Amino acid sequence: MSKQRVLSGVQPTGNLHLGNYLGAIRNWVEIQKKYDNFFCVVDLHAITVPHNPTTLAQDTYNIAALYLACGINLEYSTIFVQSHLSAHSELTWLLNCITPLNWLERMIQFKEKAIKQGENVSVGLLDYPVLMAADILLYDADLVPVGEDQKQHLELTRDIAVRLNDQFATPEQPVLKLPQALIRKEGARVMSITDGTRKMSKSDPSDLSRINLLDSPELIEKKIKRCKTDPIKGLSFDDPERPECHNLLNLYTILSEKSKAEVAQECADMGWGQFKPLLTETIITALKPIQERYHAIMDDKVYLNRVLKEGAAKAGTVADQTLVRVKNALGYLPNL
Ligand code: AMP
Ligand code: TRP
Repeated sequence: MSKQRVLSGVQPTGNLHLGNYLGAIRNWVEIQKKYDNFFCVVDLHAITVPHNPTTLAQDTYNIAALYLACGINLEYSTIFVQSHLSAHSELTWLLNCITPLNWLERMIQFKEKAIKQGENVSVGLLDYPVLMAADILLYDADLVPVGEDQKQHLELTRDIAVRLNDQFATPEQPVLKLPQALIRKEGARVMSITDGTRKMSKSDPSDLSRINLLDSPELIEKKIKRCKTDPIKGLSFDDPERPECHNLLNLYTILSEKSKAEVAQECADMGWGQFKPLLTETIITALKPIQERYHAIMDDKVYLNRVLKEGAAKAGTVADQTLVRVKNALGYLPNL
């Protein structure tokens, strides 16, 4: 039996942070041996909000190098850049024409980002989830490992696939495969370290709110020193009155690879003065090998370019076949 297929992606906007790592990439690494994996740097998504053309290419390298540095293994996984394959844009157009406008207007992430942008909302921002659906459906992905915030987009992807199948195929021979979100409980929602009620995000204006994968040990120390805590002695999970405490314990649990019960016991009588240095050390130790590998890869652009070129060729073979299948189903005249 052939392996099930996995697809996921991250946008090359800003630095990757612990939320991206624990919510997404770390899980990709852990499951990759079991599946046939495609990991994409979704640079077409990166221009749905105003972007800087002088840093886009570098940011794209940065994410691809971080995939490798975090442990994505080319023996099991294909890494590629979304804009290198025109099939993503092309399928987006075809899907656009069968997606009701009000499905997109309902998307939480669109509403949140649109509010932030005021007058400047582009059609691309509204269309973002259809492009994401195209990314996934092109590869006949069975599973899509993402953080909790992407759940609604995955449901939309399934709805679009069902609609296309209903309108243009038979139940016996569907054109598109229905994917499933794979959301791991721990790490699915890493919160800001300056406000435990908001998710850690690349777009938070304050860099102090997040720990980036490439932050230096000094900066990590400074951020943890300044992070938000509370005046209560003794640390505990799951107290709705203490979202920051829960989040920081959670980070410590995952990165130290201890169990929740172990950490609950270890930290039950601790004060913040004792816990913060421990957390700082744990984060620095967990990120150090990733940072070392990242710098080595970024110093070897010949290698990185080769990875992306081979990745695009491999991904293109799969994507092009799906695109032809969809175009045939929609009744297009083939280019013979
Ligand atoms: P993005 O930064 O929006 O490109 O997200 C890339 C991946 O990281 C997606 O799978 C997100 O669900 C995940 N992610 C982003 N922020 C967080 C967070 N604060 N906690 C957990 N996962 C996250
Ligand atoms: N929208 C996703 C995010 O912000 C990124 C993304 C784009 C993605 N295309 C995808 C994730 C396909 C999984 C699969 O996190």
